[in-house]
Amino acid sequence: MKKQSRRTFLDFLGKSVVGTAVLPPALIACAPEENTKRVAETNWKFNGIEPSDADEVIVAEGLEWDLLVKWEDQISDNDKFGSHNDYLAFLPDENNPDEGLLWVNNEHFSPRLSTAFDGEIERTKEDVDFEMYQVGGSIIKVKKNQAGKWEMVVNDSHNRRLTAHTEIPFNWSEQIYGSNTAIGTNGNCAGGITPWGTIFTCEENYHNYWGERDLETGERTNSWLKWHHIYDYPPEHYGWVVEVDPRTGDAKKHVALGRCAHECATIVVLDDGRFVVYTGDDKRGECLYKFISSEPGSLENGTLYVANTDEGRWISLDYDTQEVLQQNFKNQTEVLTYLRKAAKLVGGSPLDRPEDIEIDPLTGNVLVALTKNYPAGNYYGQIMKVEEGEGKYDSLSFTSEAFLAGGEETGFAAPDNMEFDKAGNLWFTCDVPGGHMNNEEIPQYLPFKNNALFVLMRNGPQSGEVIRVASAPTDAEFTGPFFSPDGKTLFLSVQHPGERSRSKDELTSHWPEGGDALPRSGVITLQGETLEKIQGLA
Ligand code: FEO
Ligand code: CA
Ligand code: CA
Repeated sequence: MKKQSRRTFLDFLGKSVVGTAVLPPALIACAPEENTKRVAETNWKFNGIEPSDADEVIVAEGLEWDLLVKWEDQISDNDKFGSHNDYLAFLPDENNPDEGLLWVNNEHFSPRLSTAFDGEIERTKEDVDFEMYQVGGSIIKVKKNQAGKWEMVVNDSHNRRLTAHTEIPFNWSEQIYGSNTAIGTNGNCAGGITPWGTIFTCEENYHNYWGERDLETGERTNSWLKWHHIYDYPPEHYGWVVEVDPRTGDAKKHVALGRCAHECATIVVLDDGRFVVYTGDDKRGECLYKFISSEPGSLENGTLYVANTDEGRWISLDYDTQEVLQQNFKNQTEVLTYLRKAAKLVGGSPLDRPEDIEIDPLTGNVLVALTKNYPAGNYYGQIMKVEEGEGKYDSLSFTSEAFLAGGEETGFAAPDNMEFDKAGNLWFTCDVPGGHMNNEEIPQYLPFKNNALFVLMRNGPQSGEVIRVASAPTDAEFTGPFFSPDGKTLFLSVQHPGERSRSKDELTSHWPEGGDALPRSGVITLQGETLEKIQGLA
């Protein structure tokens, strides 16, 4: 793990103007110079909260939270909201920013609290069908009511689900394991939003549902959930970046971005209309990737590269030009389908679990959350900064260094999702697993208590401070922070409260309903004066 660089950190602080990087116009617009200047000139400070182990959402002064939607809420007469919400994106209505569509990833579910599956008993079609409905994504219409609070518009014509039963085509000229389409999407972890108003939803831990295949032997491993005992769908159909149009529900799987445990996909549009998409493989010792399209507007034609962080090089995964790939694979499709193996063969650097990737709207640098590597003794993780050669996103050289390290000094451990606000402050969530939090046997995590939402202040009197803004319920992580266009609402997922519950009779959380209720993942909104002052809006 690289040491945090003080120079890098100072370079981030006090930024109120665009540096040397060539920034896409959309990024400049999200962090206007006036906002950062206004924050820089203020004396306003706010108090964060102390770590908490309470089974509730706790927020800092000047903030309020409200529950918007939770697992199994009826979104229409036909559909229910999915489980374990992660990434989300708000797409405002063209004519009214106080209403719009909310896309929400549904990453997984709790077998013990739904079908009572414990990994041992035989699978039934009825139970697997139920589980397959919990994952994928939910599209709901939301709007502000007269009190300024967000509500779901139940039965809006846009409300729909994508699930592990939904047929989705591959955006690729060749078949993937014998088919042009896959049945379903699952493991939908983090994602990204495109400038044309669609979203990327990323299939992360697909092996839990469908297992994996060994390319040499052709044998398929079993999976924890054993869905393939009921449906014989190939693992090769999962682990892709899926693009969804929330207005229509249309989806496609982008083969050119490769197949792995994708955490997220972050797109930049170059001046000439070509795309660069960053994506990471969230598994210990796996890699960071970027796709560069060879023609404007294409997410099919182009080259995928893997990062070698020691040498600062993006290495091509192009079959035609890499002899080592020709020796080990049949063609480009096979390279992309078994990406991990290909990445190692060409010299991709193993990293400590790449999670979310965001582009700093003021410097143009690429930030990558490397959450942790617990067995290797890296308990706290870090946020890594990638500075592309000459500030060009299609450069094949870069420098990287630790930008912000987790630990007791900074007050956080295991960074995961990130989001910049309108003044260039960096908001991020943390993900220490339920079984590791508040556990005397793992004292390294005791000081942090429950997972939380943090903000790294960029300007003003608290510049450089990491402030704990909100605390999550028991066993939960916050995920998917996403600002409304005016910056005055932060949509936030609360994922897997009560994750350690052994059964419906032994619950470790009752969030959000309290009493004896089952714990349910849900989406909340944060609003209030603090959110506005922190961004120089009020
Ligand atoms: Fe689903 Fe890597 O978090
Ligand atoms: Ca994550
Ligand atoms: Ca993000």
